[in-house]
Amino acid sequence: MRISQRAQAIEPFYVMEVAKAASALAAEVADSERPMIFLNIGEPDFTAPPLVQQAAARAITEGATQYTQALGLMPLRERISAWYASRFGVDVPAGRIVITAGASAALQLACLALIDAGDEILMPDPSYPCNRHFVSAADGKAVLIPTTAEERFQLSAAKVEAAWSAKTRGVLLASPSNPTGTSIHPEELRRIHEVVTRKGGITVIDEIYLGLSHDPAFGQSALAIDDQIISINSFSKYFNMTGWRLGWLVVPEALVPVVERIAQNLFICASTVAQHAALACFEPESLAEYERRRAEFKARRDYFIPALRSLGFSVPVEPDGAFYAWADCSEICSRLGITGSWDFAFEVMRRAHVAVTPGRDFGTADTGHFVRFSTANSMAQLQTAVARLREMLG
Ligand SMILES: Cc1ncc(COP(=O)(O)O)c(C=O)c1O
Repeated sequence: MRISQRAQAIEPFYVMEVAKAASALAAEVADSERPMIFLNIGEPDFTAPPLVQQAAARAITEGATQYTQALGLMPLRERISAWYASRFGVDVPAGRIVITAGASAALQLACLALIDAGDEILMPDPSYPCNRHFVSAADGKAVLIPTTAEERFQLSAAKVEAAWSAKTRGVLLASPSNPTGTSIHPEELRRIHEVVTRKGGITVIDEIYLGLSHDPAFGQSALAIDDQIISINSFSKYFNMTGWRLGWLVVPEALVPVVERIAQNLFICASTVAQHAALACFEPESLAEYERRRAEFKARRDYFIPALRSLGFSVPVEPDGAFYAWADCSEICSRLGITGSWDFAFEVMRRAHVAVTPGRDFGTADTGHFVRFSTANSMAQLQTAVARLREMLG
C-alpha cells in the first residue's frame, strides 16, 4: 500500500514509545519492592473535581448529548471569556473563542486555516514535538531555531528577525513551554510579535500551561498584547481533564468563520458531554480546588528542582510554570560512561525504576544532553524517586 508522504513525514512521538517501554517494565516490577515511578508523562495526576464529574453524569442522564455548534456551547465560551477577565485581566469576547477537541485540535485548526503548502513556521528548539507535525500535516514546514538557557529556551525577537525568509508565515510559540516549563518574558513576546506583524506574519501561542503559572512576572496571556494573536488553550492541564478531550482557541474576529467552516467539516464539534462538564470548572468551588492543586504543583517544583541539582543534574533555568524540569544530564552521563540522554533514560528506568523522558523528541539542537522530568506525581513519589536516583548515581 502506498503511504502518503505527509504520513511518512510524521515521526513517532517518542514520549509515547518510552512510555510503552516503561509500562512493560512496570508490569514486571509491579509486585516488587520497587514498583515503577512515572515521571515521564505530561498529565496531571489529579482528576476532574466533583462538580465537574457530577455535571458530566447529569449531561448523560438528561440526554444532553447531541452535537453542539461547531464553535461550541455559547455558555462555555462565555465562562471562558469571564475567566480571562477575572484571572488574567484581559477582555476576550466569547465570540472569538472556539471550543475544540483539546489543544491538539485547536493547533490543527490554526495550522489548516493559515498555512499554505511550503509555508515555514518558526518555532523554538526544544519545543512540543507534535507542533512540527501539525505544521507538516498542513503541508507547511517547521523551522526549529536552537535556543539557549539565557533565552529561557524561547525564541527572541532578534532570532525571529534573523530567521525570517520569504517563505516564513509566522511563529508558533508555547509559554510556559513543554518540555522546559519556562515562559517568554512578556516584553520579549511583545517584541517578537512586533517583528512578526512588520513582516506580515502571524503569531500563534500555545498557552495550555498558562493556568499553571507560578510567577506573576510571566503568568500573563499574550492576548493582552494584541487581538490579532492566536492563542491555544485546553482543559487538559490546569483543569485536569486530559482524557475528556476539550480545549479552545482564541482567534481574531475575521478568522472565526474560517475556523468554524474547517471545524464543521473535520470534527463537527467537541465532545458535548465534556463541554457540559467543563461549565462546572468555573464554579467557585472548582476554581478553589484548581488553585489548591496549582499550589501543590508549585510545592513539588520547589522540592524537586533543588533535589535534581543536588544529584548532579544541571537545571539551567528555573521553570516558572507547568510541571516539568528540563535537566541536563551530561555530567552524570560522562561519570557513568553513558553516551546520551536516550540511553540514560533507559538506564534510570531499568536500574532505579523511574521513568523519565529523553530529550530526543523535543528537537535536535541540544536535546541529546537533556531529560524531561514531569512532576505531575505526588510529593511522596517524587521523594522516593529522588532517593532511588541518589542510590543509583552515588
Ligand atoms: C505544549 C502542549 N500543547 C498541546 C498539548 C496537547 O494537549 P491536549 O490534551 O489539550 O490536546 C500538550 C500535551 O501535552 C502540550 O504539552
